[in-house]
Amino acid sequence: MEIGTGKSYAKIILIGEHAVVYGEPAIALPVKSIGLSARVAPLPDGRQEVTSAFFTGDLNAGQLTNFAGIAMLIRRLLVFFDDSEQGFHLTITSALPSERGMGSSAATAVAVVRAFYDAFQTPLTRTALLNWADISEKALHGNPSGLDAATASAEKPQWFVRGKSLRSIMMPRNGVLLIADTGIAGQTKVAVDLVAQKLKQAPKVYRPLITDIGTAVRQAALALAQDDIITLGQLLNRDQADLAALGVSSPELDRLINVAINHGAYGAKLTGSGMGGCMIALAAEDQAPTIIQALKAANAVKVWEYHFETK
Ligand code: MEV
Repeated sequence: MEIGTGKSYAKIILIGEHAVVYGEPAIALPVKSIGLSARVAPLPDGRQEVTSAFFTGDLNAGQLTNFAGIAMLIRRLLVFFDDSEQGFHLTITSALPSERGMGSSAATAVAVVRAFYDAFQTPLTRTALLNWADISEKALHGNPSGLDAATASAEKPQWFVRGKSLRSIMMPRNGVLLIADTGIAGQTKVAVDLVAQKLKQAPKVYRPLITDIGTAVRQAALALAQDDIITLGQLLNRDQADLAALGVSSPELDRLINVAINHGAYGAKLTGSGMGGCMIALAAEDQAPTIIQALKAANAVKVWEYHFETK
């Protein structure tokens, strides 16, 4: 084992969360300005059993809870590399807030797998990477679609259908996406379990919402291809209405979403699993400063600007 490094990004789901778990498509973006890196370094000979993790950056206790899944993933990686006795230091440096719908657990898994493959100087395919990440994501979320890890490991916005399709998708030439953090933790497992429970208890009520999200995502792909951000904004609003009806929005998310719309956003919605976490707003470039100011005045703990890459 040598010293190995790996990186990944925060992910933002533009449209399609939750329904993606049930086979509908989703569109998600890696946010390259919000990154995570992992560095693994072997401990000197004779020190075998030590597994150390040093977390820096914005990681908090929530992230440490997630570490159980990552520890399991690492144990399996070491068995795979036939080096299960090797001690090492693992350093994760992250700018991602955890439990805010930005995919911090998937980004950690992706960077860790890349770091171990680098440490054992082994080529890593995307499929193998996503299968590895699925191990810790399953431990944490139960039924992950795989969208988070697929996006955290991507360089470009992704069109994703669970187990079927993963490809880059073009973004609009204008407009900006604002990402605002409610400051409230949202736990993916709780939200995904809630939706599953509702679908089981009242499928006639909730199944059409899942189907409608899928339809909105397909229409969003068309709007993106046609560079029509006004329609895209309307589709984000429709998606938010479906997600709220599924029960995964929250008063804090609703408040920031309304503030963005009232200050001129084309559309706004929660992003990720919801019940806390972040919201996104699609806006014209010249409207963004007004919306950012309004979101901050409405107690968003942080606001990021995401500028679409068009190439
Ligand atoms: C969480 O970031 C996205 C969800 O759709 C869950 C998943 O896709 O596994 C809520």
